[in-house]
Amino acid sequence: LDDLLSEGVAGRRVLVRADLNVPLDGDKITDDGRVRASVPTIKKLADAGAKVVVAAHLGRPKGTPDPKFSLAPVAARLGELLGTSVALAQDVTGASARSTVDGLTDGAVALLENVRFDARETSKDQAERTALASEYAELADAFVSDGFGVVHRKQASVYDVARLLPAYAGGLVLAEVEVLRKLTGDPAKPYVVVLGGSKVSDKLAVIESLLPKVDQLLVGGGMCFTFLAAQGLGVGDSLLEADMIDTCKRLLAESGDKIMLPADVVIADDFSAEANTETVLVAQMYEHWKGLDIGPITVERYSAALEQAGTVFWNGPMGVFELAPFAEGTRGVAQAIAGSGAFSVVGGGDSAAAVRRLGIAEDGFSHISTGGGASLEFLEGKDLPGVSVLEG
Ligand code: 3PG
Repeated sequence: LDDLLSEGVAGRRVLVRADLNVPLDGDKITDDGRVRASVPTIKKLADAGAKVVVAAHLGRPKGTPDPKFSLAPVAARLGELLGTSVALAQDVTGASARSTVDGLTDGAVALLENVRFDARETSKDQAERTALASEYAELADAFVSDGFGVVHRKQASVYDVARLLPAYAGGLVLAEVEVLRKLTGDPAKPYVVVLGGSKVSDKLAVIESLLPKVDQLLVGGGMCFTFLAAQGLGVGDSLLEADMIDTCKRLLAESGDKIMLPADVVIADDFSAEANTETVLVAQMYEHWKGLDIGPITVERYSAALEQAGTVFWNGPMGVFELAPFAEGTRGVAQAIAGSGAFSVVGGGDSAAAVRRLGIAEDGFSHISTGGGASLEFLEGKDLPGVSVLEG
């Protein structure tokens, strides 16, 4: 970004790929963290006189326009944060996008409509993606990749357009990569990773690649029940991936000394805030109840491990934190990380949203990543197309 700014951007059209994929309740943004994280790069460019054209996705529409996935609420929020109005094009690269960009004055900002309204954006066919990328390229003179949360996707506005325009890394992408490189380099020991979220299968690759490097892996969230089942425990109606039980058995056999599992859990007779709940030891779960959070004994044990840590990476909530009766596990672990004094990185949409929603001071963490899947793939050592296209 500094290279581009030093070349001078006044009057030039700069396409910024941002990750503005925020959680919505109807048309209300429930966590604007990604919008806020995108502001500095956009503002620097606008302040330098660029005509800033922002491209972003929201959710996973099916490749056609769908009002449910319109970026309209995001354009409004971005405008509030920038202190200027942000024009929203009604399409991705069509007549509305072209006239919106043509109408930009120096220092003004426009947002294209959800790039995933065009099926070519996420196509596996490179020729299709390139065709769309050429249309993006016609709207701009330079490209800035700043959507860290989406750099693991080989998609037209992330990867292909960077091959057609002079391409630069934005401040957010640079900052994220720099922090995550500390984790893949030589992290201060003990290195403790906290993993939650619903499925073991989603996290298997990262578990396998992290286990040799970490000192402890603390498991919570829905995925812990498959591990508990692998230990032969009954888990009632909790989330269970039966086809992953053997894998969990193998992981426990190979690295059981590093993997910490819950000792107690909060169970409920229904997936709702009004459900009857109880806190029980993991060996005492009721047959038709579901585990929806880790319990206080577990929080205490995990907190003790986190207190000793030199480095912490956390991805995935410990329970259904959106519902008050099941938020304490995530709150307790988040507070333990924030209070640990370790170099701490929160990876991902849900965990970052949990920190903010539970009102935990963000400055307790060394870094809150805007990337969920992207930060996990980085830690797995996978190629991130949206980053490597800038390096190559
Ligand atoms: C995310 O939410 O992790 C990013 O915005 C990427 O979204 P995707 O998983 O739908 O590609």
